[in-house]
Amino acid sequence: MTAEPELLRERAAAALTAARVRTAGLTDAVTETELTAQHSPLMSPLVWDLAHIGNMEELWLLRNVAGRESMHPEIDPLYDAFEHPRAERPKLPLLSPEEARRYAAEVRGRVFDLLERTPLEGTALLDGGYVFGMIAQHEQQHDETMLITHQLRQGAPVLAAPDPDPPQGPPRAAEVLVPAGPFTMGTSAEPWSLDNERPAHVREVEAFWIDTVPVTNAAYQQFMADGGYREERWWEAAGWAEIRRHGIEAPLFWHREGGTWLRRRFGVTEPVPGDEPVLHVSWYEADAYARWAGRRLPTEAEWEKAARHDPAAGRSTRYPWGDADPTPAHANLGQRHLRPARAGAYPDGASPLGVRQLIGDVWEWTASDFLPYPGFRAFPYREYSEVFFGPEHKVLRGGSFAVDPVACRGTFRNWDLPVRRQIFSGFRTARGAVPAGSAGQA
Ligand code: AVJ
Ligand code: FE
Repeated sequence: MTAEPELLRERAAAALTAARVRTAGLTDAVTETELTAQHSPLMSPLVWDLAHIGNMEELWLLRNVAGRESMHPEIDPLYDAFEHPRAERPKLPLLSPEEARRYAAEVRGRVFDLLERTPLEGTALLDGGYVFGMIAQHEQQHDETMLITHQLRQGAPVLAAPDPDPPQGPPRAAEVLVPAGPFTMGTSAEPWSLDNERPAHVREVEAFWIDTVPVTNAAYQQFMADGGYREERWWEAAGWAEIRRHGIEAPLFWHREGGTWLRRRFGVTEPVPGDEPVLHVSWYEADAYARWAGRRLPTEAEWEKAARHDPAAGRSTRYPWGDADPTPAHANLGQRHLRPARAGAYPDGASPLGVRQLIGDVWEWTASDFLPYPGFRAFPYREYSEVFFGPEHKVLRGGSFAVDPVACRGTFRNWDLPVRRQIFSGFRTARGAVPAGSAGQA
C-alpha cells in the first residue's frame, strides 16, 4: 500500500496527537499523589507510564531516526521496562508528574519538527511512516495499560463515558460453521503491522464451529451456579491450583451481595449485566468454562480465519467487515465507552459468515501459545515480541473497548500470562466439526 508522503505525514501526526490527547485524559483525571501511587503491584504508577511513553518516543524517533543524543541519559534506565519489574517502579527516583509531562511534551515538539522534514521512505523504519506509527501504537497500548490501572484504583470514579447503545441487528444463530480449507494468516502488506503479525502465510484449518458472539455474563453465571469453580475436572492443573490458592470463585471485580452478583467498574458498583460479554477472566477460567460447556477455546488460527477469511473473495481481509478502517458502527473501540456493548451488537462489523464482535468489546483468549510465524524476523527490537515467545504466554485477539483503532486489526496479536485477569479479557468458544461421512465419524 503506497500513499502520498503528505498524506502519510498527516496520518502519522494525527495518530500521535490522538494518543497524546488520550494520555492527557488518563493522567489529568487524578491527583499528583495518585499519579505517583501504586494502585496494584501488577501495575506501574501512572507517572511511570507517562514518562516511559516519552522515553520510548525519544529513543526511537529522536535518537535512532534523527541521531540525537539522549536528552537525560540518567533517566533512561528508569524507563527501560526490562530493568525494573512493575512492582518496584514506585520506589525508583522517577520524574515527578510535572517533569514527566514537560519531558513528554518536549520530546513531542521535537518529533513534530522531525516529521516535517523526514522522508517517509528509504529504510525499513521509515517506509510508510512505520516508526511513527509504531510509537503511536506504543502510546495507545500504554493508555490501555493506564486504563487498567484506573480500573484497579480504589475510590470515587474519575472517568466517565456514555454507555454503548449500538444497533443489535437481526437475530442470529448461536454458532457459525467455518468450512475447512486454507486461508492467509498474518500480513506482509499492512504498513503499520508489528513484527509478530508478519509475514503473511497460508494455514490449513479443519472445519470448526465458533460462537457468533462472545460468552456473556449470564452464560458464565450458569457455569458458576453449576459449581464450575468447585469441580477440578474442568480445570487445567495450574489453573485449579491458582483458583484454590487465591480463593477465586468469580471474575475479577465481582462480589456477591445477597443473591446478586455485583461488579465494580471504574469506581461504580453495579449489578452484573447478563447480556454483556464476560470481562476480567483469566485464560484458565475461559478454558474451564469452555470445557464445562462441552467446547474449547478457538485456536489463534481459527480465530483469525473466522475474522478475516472472505469465502466469496477467496482472500483474507483486514477486518471482519472488509478492508475499511473501523468506524463506530463497526466496533466498540477507542475508549469511547468504558464497558463492552451487549452481545450481538454491531451487525455492520460482522464477518462474511456472520460472526460478530470479533473486533472490540473484549480481548478474546485463544487456545494458542504466543509463537512466531514461519519467517518471523524481530523488528525493530527483540523486546517487543521475541523475548515473549513460548508456552508461558497465551494469545488474545480482537482488542477491547480500551484499544484504539490504530492498534487493532484482524492480524493484531496480544499475549499475556494465563493467570492474568485485570486485563480487559473475555472469550468465545469453538468446537470441531467432523464432516458427515468422514472416517472421523465412527
Ligand atoms: C503487547 C500489550 C503485551 O503492554 O506489555 C508496551 C505492549 N510493549 N510496551 C505490554 C508493549 C512495550 C505489551 N503488550
Ligand atoms: Fe512500553
